[in-house]
Amino acid sequence: MDVHNVALTISAVGPKQYPTNELPEIALVGRSNVGKSSLTNTLINRKSFARTSSQPGKTQTLNFYNVEDQVYFVDVPGYGYAKVSKTEREKWGFMIEEYLSTRQQLRGVVSLVDARHAPSEDDINMYNWLLYFDIPVLVVATKADKIARGKWNKAESTIKKALQFDNSKSDFMMFSSVTKDGKDAVWNWIEDRMAD
Ligand code: GTP
Ligand code: MG
Repeated sequence: MDVHNVALTISAVGPKQYPTNELPEIALVGRSNVGKSSLTNTLINRKSFARTSSQPGKTQTLNFYNVEDQVYFVDVPGYGYAKVSKTEREKWGFMIEEYLSTRQQLRGVVSLVDARHAPSEDDINMYNWLLYFDIPVLVVATKADKIARGKWNKAESTIKKALQFDNSKSDFMMFSSVTKDGKDAVWNWIEDRMAD
């Protein structure tokens, strides 16, 4: 999609605040600092529309970005950030689960993992949880610019093995918001889900 118009429609903490028009929605999930906001910015051709930060845990609400009045990107708060209190973490967990498990318009989830490492326990749980709820999932291994291209295949197999990746229910792509590698492929996946 050729993107010119994007607006942050709402930062929601619960269903009462979700947008009421019925555009398809694509959510972005992943641990704090993995690069969700950066992926959003890359897809919409902006440098810093979605707030990015070297400070993990910055995004604390479900941020609905209206893209060309055709789809919402939903930037979901990152999980696994140790420095927030247990109560805070539980509140986030509930907010995220409530959205992902009940939202009719949700067409798919882009689940980000760090290309350099094996997925965390939280990454694995999230992946399984999404499959359990029959939500189409695209695993995006981001920050791919930080590893040599010759090691991309190895990174992919390490990640898929740890996730016990199910090819029939999910897709995988390497991505970098620095080099924009994978941008078109991720957009194609999203457009396929929008058409589902
Ligand atoms: P939270 O909102 O805290 O959950 O983080 P986030 O997942 O939105 O991460 P964000 O996009 O803010 O990126 C975190 C840091 O990683 C920033 O310093 C980014 O510049 C950096 N980063 C994100 N994507 C990439 C990438 O593809 N390559 C490189 N080299 N750095 C990246
Ligand atoms: Mg963010």
